[in-house]
Amino acid sequence: MRALRFPRLVYNKISIAGGFVAVITALTMVFFLFVQAGKGETNPYVGILIYMVLPPGLLVGLILVPVGMFRQWKFLKKHGADVLPPWPQIDFNKKTHRNVFIVFLVGGLIYACMSAVGAYQAYHHTESVEFCGETCHKVMKPENTAYRNSAHARVACTACHVGEGANWYAKSKLAGAYQVYATTFNKYPKPIPTPIKNLRPAQETCEQCHWPRKFFGAQQRQFNHYIYDEDNTAWPINMLIKTGGGDPKTGQTAGIHWHMNIGVKVEYIARDERRQDIPWVRVTDNLTGRITVYQHQDDPLTDEELQNGTRRVMDCMDCHNRPSHNFHPPDFVVDRAILTGQIAQDLPDIKRVAVWAMDGDYDSEETAVRSIATKIVDHYKHNYADVFRTRRVDIQQAVVATQQQFTQNIFPEMEVRWLDYPDNIGHFIYPGCMRCHEGKHVSEEGWTLTRECNTCHSILSQGSGERYQVASTPEGLEFVHPEDIGEEWREIGCHECHTGTQP
Ligand code: HEC
Ligand code: HEC
Ligand code: HEC
Ligand code: HEC
Ligand code: HEC
Ligand code: HEC
Repeated sequence: MRALRFPRLVYNKISIAGGFVAVITALTMVFFLFVQAGKGETNPYVGILIYMVLPPGLLVGLILVPVGMFRQWKFLKKHGADVLPPWPQIDFNKKTHRNVFIVFLVGGLIYACMSAVGAYQAYHHTESVEFCGETCHKVMKPENTAYRNSAHARVACTACHVGEGANWYAKSKLAGAYQVYATTFNKYPKPIPTPIKNLRPAQETCEQCHWPRKFFGAQQRQFNHYIYDEDNTAWPINMLIKTGGGDPKTGQTAGIHWHMNIGVKVEYIARDERRQDIPWVRVTDNLTGRITVYQHQDDPLTDEELQNGTRRVMDCMDCHNRPSHNFHPPDFVVDRAILTGQIAQDLPDIKRVAVWAMDGDYDSEETAVRSIATKIVDHYKHNYADVFRTRRVDIQQAVVATQQQFTQNIFPEMEVRWLDYPDNIGHFIYPGCMRCHEGKHVSEEGWTLTRECNTCHSILSQGSGERYQVASTPEGLEFVHPEDIGEEWREIGCHECHTGTQP
C-alpha cells in the first residue's frame, strides 16, 4: 500500500531528518500542552520547553525539508541525472491536487494561528513570576522567598523590574541572556549586588500603581519588641508615622512624602555603591528656584569627589528600596514569632537563645537547621533542667519556628544575610533616614537637616507593665530606651548599637 506518496526529491537525508525533527517536536509540544492544561499551573521548565525550545526546533525541522529538496535537485542536475525529478506541479483540475492544496491551506492557517498564540504565550511566560523566580531556583531563591512573604506577593516581578513597553522588554531579555550564561557557568556574584544598576526609574514602575500625588496622612504602627531578659518582657512601641503627601491638591504638603519631588527636587551624591554614605544633599525649590546644599559637617565630600560623583535625584527607591525582598534580621523575626505565639513567650530566655541560634556563621541551610535545634535544646538541657523536662512541646515548637524564620530570611548558599541588603525605611538597624537626618548635615546658611524625633513620628504609647506610658497630647511621648543607656540614643543612631541581633 502506498497511501503516503511524497515527491521524489524529498527522499534525501536532510529532508528526512528535518521531517523527523518536525514531527517529534510537534508531538512533544502537543503532549506537554495537554499535561499543562490538566495541571493549571505552569512549571517553569515545562514552560521553557513548550514556548521557547520546541517552537524553534519545529521551525528548523520544517525549513530543513525544502532545503534538502533543493540540494537534492542541484545535486542531480550537476551529476547529469537523465530525468530530473519534476518539481511538484499544481493542477487544480485534479481532485488529489485540490485536496492536497486544501490540506496545506488549512494546515498553514492552523500553524499560523498556533504561532501567534505561541509567540504570545512565550512573551507571557517570560513575564511570569514562575519564569523569573523559579527557573534559576538556586540563584533567585532569596529574592523569590522574600517576595512571596511581602505585600507585593501578587505583583509580577516584571511590574517592578521591567515595566511597560517593548523597549524595556527587549533590554531585560538581553540582560537575561547574559544571566542564563552566568547561571549555567556559575559565574554570578554572591550575594547578588544591590542596588541594581539599571533598574527602571520608579516613575515608570512603582508610580504606575502608587502615584506620588496621593496623600497618605499619618499611619499608626506598632513595633513589637521583646527584651533580652529571662522573662522576654514585651516592649511595644506604638507610633504615628507622619507619611503625609507632597501635593496641595490632595492634602497638606507635609511629612515624609514631602520628598517626592512635586514641589521640590532632592538630589544627593553617595560615596559608596550601596548609597549608604551620603555626605552631600541639594534641595531645589521648584516654585522659588531657591537652592540649598547640605553637607556632612565632619566628613564632607572632597572637591574631587564632588566633581566625579554621580548625582542622583531622590525617588521612591531611595527609601522603599526593599518593597518586596526584605531579608529580616533575627531580632525582628524572633519578636514576630513570639508576638504571634509560634514561640511561647513564657519560655525563659527564649528571645536571647533563639536570636543567638539563628546568628551562627552557617555554610548551608542544612547545617543551620541542625545547629539551631541542637543549640536551643542543649541550652534548656544544661541551664533549665526543669523546663527541659516539663515543656518539651514548647521547646520543640520554638525550634521549628526559629528554623522556619531562618530558612525564610537567611540564605547561606547565596551568602544572603540581612546586613547585606540594608533597608532604607526607618533607622533602627540600618542608617536609613539617618543617612541624611542624623543631625550632622549643615547648609551654608547654618540650617541642619532635622534629627528631631517628632518630625517624622510621634510615640503614642510605649513599654509594658509598670513602665507602660501612654500619650495624653498629640505631640506624643518622649522616647524611653528600655535598657538604661543614659542619653546616648539622643546622640548616636540606634543602628550603631542595634545590628539585627542582641546589641
Ligand atoms: C514591588 C516591586 C518588586 C517586585 C514585585 C519584585 N522586585 Fe525584585 N527588586 C525590587 C527593588 C526595588 C529591588 C532593589 C533595588 C535596588 O536596591 O537597587 C529589587 C532587587 C532584586 C534583585 C537584586 C538583589 C536584591 O535583593 O537587591 C533581584 C535578583 C530581584 N529583585 C528579583 C526579583 C524576582 C525574581 C521577583 C519576582 C519573584 C521580584 N524581584 C519582584 C522591586 C521588586
Ligand atoms: C502592579 C502594581 C504595583 C506596583 C508596580 C508596585 N506596587 Fe506597591 N503595592 C501594590 C499593592 C497591590 C500593594 C498592597 C496594598 C495593600 O495590601 O494594602 C502595595 C503595597 C506597597 C507598600 C505598602 C506595603 C508595605 O508595607 O510594604 C509600599 C511601601 C509599596 N507598595 C511601595 C512600592 C514601591 C516602592 C514600588 C516600586 C518598586 C511598588 N510599590 C510597585 C501594588 C504595586
Ligand atoms: C523619604 C523617604 C520616602 C520616599 C522618597 C518615599 N516614601 Fe513612601 N513612605 C515612606 C515612609 C517612612 C512611609 C511610612 C510607612 C512605613 O514606615 O513603612 C511611607 C509610606 C508609603 C506607602 C504606604 C504604606 C502603607 O503601609 O500603606 C506607600 C504606598 C508608599 N510610601 C509609596 C511610595 C512611593 C510610590 C514613592 C515614590 C513616588 C514613595 N513612597 C517615596 C518613606 C518614603
Ligand atoms: C538623601 C537625603 C535624605 C534622606 C535619605 C532622607 N531625607 Fe528627609 N529630608 C531631606 C532634605 C534635604 C529635607 C529638606 C530640608 C529643607 O527643608 O531644606 C528633608 C526633610 C524631611 C522632612 C521634613 C519635611 C517638611 O515638612 O519640611 C521629613 C519629615 C523627612 N525629611 C523625613 C524623612 C524620612 C522619614 C526619611 C527616611 C525614610 C528621610 N527623610 C530620608 C533629605 C533626606
Ligand atoms: C527623618 C525622620 C526620622 C527621625 C528624625 C527619627 N525617626 Fe524614628 N523612625 C522613622 C521612620 C520612618 C520609622 C519607621 C520605620 C518603619 O516603618 O519600619 C522610625 C522608627 C522608629 C522606631 C521604631 C523602630 C523599630 O523598628 O522598632 C523608634 C523607636 C524610633 N523611630 C525612635 C526615634 C527616636 C528616639 C528619634 C529621635 C532621636 C527618631 N526616631 C528620629 C523616622 C525618623
Ligand atoms: C549605645 C548603644 C545603643 C543605642 C544608641 C541604642 N540602643 Fe537600644 N539597646 C542597647 C542595649 C545594650 C540594649 C539591651 C540589650 C540586652 O538586653 O542585652 C538595647 C535594647 C533595646 C530594645 C529592647 C530589645 C530589642 O532589641 O528589641 C529596644 C526596643 C531598643 N533598644 C530600642 C532602641 C532604639 C529605638 C534606639 C534608637 C532611638 C536605640 N535602642 C539606641 C543599646 C543601644
